Amino acid sequence: MQAKINGIELAFDLQGSGVPVLLLHAFPLNRSMWQAQANALSRQFRVITPDFRGFGDSERSDEPYTMELLADDICALLKHLSVDQIILGGLSMGGYVAFAFYLKYPEMVQRLILADTRAEADTEDGKANRRAVAELARKRGAAVIAELMTPKLLGATTRQEKPEVVKRVKEMIAACAPTAIANAQIGMSLRPDSTSTLKAITCPTLILVGEEDLLTTVEMAKNMHSKIKDSVLQVVPKAGHLSNLEQPESFNAHLVDFLQDQPV
Ligand code: MLT
Repeated sequence: MQAKINGIELAFDLQGSGVPVLLLHAFPLNRSMWQAQANALSRQFRVITPDFRGFGDSERSDEPYTMELLADDICALLKHLSVDQIILGGLSMGGYVAFAFYLKYPEMVQRLILADTRAEADTEDGKANRRAVAELARKRGAAVIAELMTPKLLGATTRQEKPEVVKRVKEMIAACAPTAIANAQIGMSLRPDSTSTLKAITCPTLILVGEEDLLTTVEMAKNMHSKIKDSVLQVVPKAGHLSNLEQPESFNAHLVDFLQDQPV
């Protein structure tokens, strides 16, 4: 489905009915990464999976995709769908956007799911690296970024044992518009530190992290868990940074358990 949101055509899928669960995808992927979760949750929930501007089937705009801009797109999409409150989940960049959304619209969030993400802003080296990747994407295209990023996004187990997942991730990245990669990299480099937001989170929160995640590590997840009062932490075995794609069964089992233990 598509709707004109904040001046751009935003693509999204709706699956199932019940309490709305909105899932925000990672960088530089698209809403299709949530397929297995949407299938599992749509038996009980209304699952909403948008493509961020520039990604998947959503229209591009040429400006830095700040986390606040992306959160505002999501809020406008929810208004369009007449949805007032959600269970909000995000993986990695999706998690950064979830922090921005929670900061601005806390009353709309009933439960939070933070997967393979972190609250800290980038270091100066991290920012410089993002600017370099943005430049590389603009000059050499998305296929180069796919080769560069895929090994970092996936855990060692997936790289060794699940070639179909490796192929799927590479294809998703290679299909991205280079300008969207660049704009999101710059947007992420501008994101503020969300550490102070952690203490302000009052809703029940599930924190998930792949055991083999080297980008947003188990240590970082433990740190978020220690600061979010009403949170549970689950480590997904044999998964890297894209834990939902790498080990969908364990990931989904944790989602379902959390949502059953913490009904809205
Ligand atoms: C993601 O998976 O969304 C990215 O790894 C986030 C990032 O680059 O910080």
